[in-house]
Amino acid sequence: MTTHDRLRLERLSKHYGRHQVLHDVSLDIERGSFLTLLGPSGSGKTTLLKVLAGFERCSAGRLLLGDADITSLPAERRNFGLVFQGYALFPHMTVANNVAFPLKVRRWDRSRIEARVREMLELVQLGHLAHRKPAELSGGQQQRVALARALAFEPDLLLLDEPMSALDRKLRADLQIELRRIHRRLGTTFVYVTHDQDEAMTMSDQVAVLDHGRLMQVGPPETLYERPENRFVAEFLGRSNFLPARLLAAEGPGSRIEVAGRTCRHAGPVPEAGHGVSLLLRPEDIEVRPASPGDGWNCLSGRLQIRTYFGDRALYQVEVPGAGTVSAYAPARPEFRPAEGDEVHLVWRAEDGVLLPAEAERS
Ligand SMILES: Nc1ncnc2c1ncn2[C@@H]1O[C@H](COP(=O)(O)OP(=O)(O)OP(=O)(O)O)[C@@H](O)[C@H]1O
Ligand SMILES: [Mg+2]
Repeated sequence: MTTHDRLRLERLSKHYGRHQVLHDVSLDIERGSFLTLLGPSGSGKTTLLKVLAGFERCSAGRLLLGDADITSLPAERRNFGLVFQGYALFPHMTVANNVAFPLKVRRWDRSRIEARVREMLELVQLGHLAHRKPAELSGGQQQRVALARALAFEPDLLLLDEPMSALDRKLRADLQIELRRIHRRLGTTFVYVTHDQDEAMTMSDQVAVLDHGRLMQVGPPETLYERPENRFVAEFLGRSNFLPARLLAAEGPGSRIEVAGRTCRHAGPVPEAGHGVSLLLRPEDIEVRPASPGDGWNCLSGRLQIRTYFGDRALYQVEVPGAGTVSAYAPARPEFRPAEGDEVHLVWRAEDGVLLPAEAERS
């Protein structure tokens, strides 16, 4: 079982009684990749991780590691490392003994265990604290011990369930960088659970977005952000505007669309015919101008309602007749600085919009 390629989730479903919490989840996790399961509270992230770990049996579907069917293999025979919330360190053991524990269970010999514990504590930069007890460590240090313990026996896969949720922002940021460094160095497959989109975007090779137990989209962070396939993914991964739109005609390599009563150009893919569409525009793709640039530009006009200053940039919320409130980012020190109540013009490039089927509209 040590030579595996990828972990394949094949139409996994899970029921608790009559309540279905996972629906037909299919996903390939490439060996050595860092995949994040991202979704709101209750979307089934922990349940899916437990199915992967072998703590929960799925109600339907299969789990394949390389060619081996491991759907009913017990947890202790999967050779997966776990860093779960509440899967705490042993309080009466030193840091070194915590890390040694899974190796003793696997009957490694003493000198090999000592060398490995030293190596793992170096990896998480805690070699100097080997003789402390968990209670004598900070939260971040405890998480790093848990990580060292989970990685010590060279697992085929490391499963992490919101390991940083109890830590403050600064410590999280430090530990995120450290986790990526460790991942690169070891090349172990990581499956990481979080509900924090920034964490998912900054750490992962692949992100799998879950909503109500359904997989909404899988892909690299850039693809999910720039080319979301549905409104849920678009909204979950950052601020977004959805403008009511209508397909008019194909035009050259792109299309002509109507947005809030104005004719505009669109350069990206177009949803299948027969659907209404909405145009997704990210606030950073919209430029706020004092005058309309004229024919040939995509432009909507409206009134600036609120300007919110963030230091590195400002958010303009503009009321556009027929489109509602549209958000646009502007530089912190722009040349054009409208006052609240002024008329402004919103301009975007045909390539920067994403057309989504309106059936994906949900409240
Ligand atoms: N043992 C259980 N018995 C019954 N229902 C459960 C059980 N465990 C989880 N659920 C339900 O399954 C759904 C998914 O729960 P899960 O813990 O997987 O969500 P999650 O995405 O990890 O959420 P969070 O971000 O809050 O940790 C929830 O509706 C939850 O109430
Ligand atoms: Mg959870």
